[in-house]
Amino acid sequence: MSNQIVTPYTGDEAVSLDNFNRRIEEINAGAAPAEHEHTAEDVTSGVLPVARGGTGQTSLQAARNAMGLGNTTGALPVANGGTGASDAAGARANLGITPGGIGAAAASHQHGAGDIASGTLPVSRGGTGQASLSAARNAMGLGNTTGALPVANGGTGASDAAGARANLGITPGGIGAAAASHSQAASTITAGTLPAGVVATVGADYTTSRLRNISAGTGDLTAGSSALGNGVIYLVYE
Ligand SMILES: [Fe+2]
Repeated sequence: MSNQIVTPYTGDEAVSLDNFNRRIEEINAGAAPAEHEHTAEDVTSGVLPVARGGTGQTSLQAARNAMGLGNTTGALPVANGGTGASDAAGARANLGITPGGIGAAAASHQHGAGDIASGTLPVSRGGTGQASLSAARNAMGLGNTTGALPVANGGTGASDAAGARANLGITPGGIGAAAASHSQAASTITAGTLPAGVVATVGADYTTSRLRNISAGTGDLTAGSSALGNGVIYLVYE
């Protein structure tokens, strides 16, 4: 509505009913009723303060800023508790939401062996499925030990040749062989020819039946002076 100034009654005018009624008409014509409303367009000056339900500001940007939502009309800035972005990807980028930024590993990453801190890598994954070397060996059929491969698992159970031979029972008797120094029963000589170098034991056991050395010559023996070994038989031929 438009304002209308109603001049106060000064008393200069003659007080008459006409003048009084005219005054009433002037007031009714130019004044708003005690209870009345306005459209927003009627507010043409000043700024409605926060205390009256306004923003106290003259722009949306300033109003937002006054509310602590950033001096902008765009996406709520990170500095004001927003993401500063209008889509999820931008929000993640602005907030530093990367694997490294949030202390996470990338989807594709690697580990050092020292990072495997629990569980046991199964055989199907290239592990042993065991938690100790001896158990791993045992699982492989190589004996529950970290020492020399036991005889029971196809080894020698020893760390040197002599121990290996001993553990495997590799002795002349164990493998059906004769000892390096041994005797042979005459009955086992069943073929072949004794070489010329084989001689009988010289002995004075003349009354014992046994092999004796026999030699021959054309010279007669001379009793008391010819030298023959004990038990040697000498034949004279012509
Ligand atoms: Fe990982």
